[in-house]
Amino acid sequence: MKGIVFTEFLDLVEDKFGLEMVDKIINESNLESEGIYTSVGTYKFSEMLQLLQHLSANTNITIDDLLLVYAEHFFNVLKDSYPGLLASYKDPIEMLASIENHIHVEVRKIYPDAELPTFEILEKEEHSLIMIYKSSRAMHHFGLGLMNKTFEHFNSTATIVIEKIKEDGTEVKFIINKN
Ligand code: HEM
Repeated sequence: MKGIVFTEFLDLVEDKFGLEMVDKIINESNLESEGIYTSVGTYKFSEMLQLLQHLSANTNITIDDLLLVYAEHFFNVLKDSYPGLLASYKDPIEMLASIENHIHVEVRKIYPDAELPTFEILEKEEHSLIMIYKSSRAMHHFGLGLMNKTFEHFNSTATIVIEKIKEDGTEVKFIINKN
């Protein structure tokens, strides 16, 4: 997992819960990196999972809810860092349908070692989209937060339902309806 995901995560934790919480979750985790991240480095996903698990235990917020809020913050980071990628879209459904064969393709050119999910489009209409998310990281709520922000970016909203295909969340169906 790319370092930017860690550095932005810890910045947000500091913002919302204070520096003591950052220290606490780093100390409670068993991290090869010792909790020292640079935005261009690459670190094990298991480190992110431990940080999330300890933050969840200390705040009583579920990991899914933490990932949802974190993704909403991360969208702004992506928007500021890669303005050109978003500029080519005029519509949220078009943009979300292009993650797999455009957006993440470009991401992989920037970060060849990025660990990205796959999105398979099952059905696409003008105002709706059904996609299958697959990833060993089960970060579907991170995807949900990015999708919510994508609609907001285009001054729009959507109703998005997640149906689990695999119980562990490594495969889910996103049913997206523009409001
Ligand atoms: C992960 C870039 C848009 C879904 C990531 C990562 C980067 C990235 C850098 C981390 C990879 C790693 O740590 O190895 C971008 C950029 C975008 C964009 C630059 C737009 C400008 C989106 C959108 C979605 C999405 C709109 C909507 C669903 C995800 C998910 C992950 C991810 C779910 C987590 C990894 C996983 O589930 O396996 N993306 N992304 N991305 N991205 Fe994107």
